[in-house]
Amino acid sequence: MRLIALGAALAVGCAAACAAQAQDSAKEIQRYRQMIAEGSPAELFELEGEALWKKAQGPKNVSLEKCDLGRGAGVLKGAYARLPRYFKDADRVMDLETRLLYCMTTLQGRSREEATKRVFGTADQPSEMESLSAYIAAQSRGTKLDPGISHPKEKESYELGRALYFHRAGAWDFSCASCHGEEGKRIRMQDLPVLYKPASARPIIATWPAYRVSTSQFVTLQWRMNDCYRQMRTPEPNFGSETTVALIHFLTATAKGETYKGPGSKR
Ligand code: HEC
Repeated sequence: MRLIALGAALAVGCAAACAAQAQDSAKEIQRYRQMIAEGSPAELFELEGEALWKKAQGPKNVSLEKCDLGRGAGVLKGAYARLPRYFKDADRVMDLETRLLYCMTTLQGRSREEATKRVFGTADQPSEMESLSAYIAAQSRGTKLDPGISHPKEKESYELGRALYFHRAGAWDFSCASCHGEEGKRIRMQDLPVLYKPASARPIIATWPAYRVSTSQFVTLQWRMNDCYRQMRTPEPNFGSETTVALIHFLTATAKGETYKGPGSKR
């Protein structure tokens, strides 16, 4: 009897102590997030991106300045916040990176192979795609997220993204929802946001692309999709594939209406 009482007392003791400890870590993580948000080096990537946007490149030796990101040739203000959307010239839904690749191949005459050789950079050497994303996304600060959701192909892409979010695949039979499906889940101290719910998706999507403090890299949403698929142990998706664009489309549509605040900082 006494043993049972002792066991119960210990259990209660741990419940209280452990909860307090979890709360402390949550508070510390919150404080850390705030600190990194206040001193973001994203601006350095924006400057590099501006230079690349204006740099003549490829067989046609022209810059990307005439690239139409959905608001007209060369219009950058508020363009990122309205992506992904349907582009008639390409007859498909595109996110920022897919659209940039399209402009690199059509305007600059570069091959897809060459333009995608190094889409994800390193801390020492960010990729062209990363710097361009930083520069262009920054021109949407203060604009509400408003991706296209009315064209039939936009509806199709949204539905595909939603289905993919819950679709289990790969060696571990994981879906995005296996990790991002319930409140309060964490891996290695990182909160796993429930991204199919607007309340969670809004603040998250409104700060991508972002500077990633732990690796000193600037990272994009295409990279994020890739890295989460890697964590799911599936084969690596093709850059700018229908799959990754549909997922980004679904997440952005879920975050619709949130004011864009990026490029942000991530742990
Ligand atoms: C095995 C678990 C796991 C699966 C499955 C998974 N993710 Fe993730 N995801 C993570 C982790 C861990 C992080 C946080 C990484 C970090 O903070 O560095 C993350 C972060 C993210 C973020 C960024 C969150 C932020 O704070 O900005 C997005 C967006 C995301 N995942 C989308 C997806 C999508 C879409 C899928 C399905 C294709 C998916 N994830 C599948 C583990 C997973």
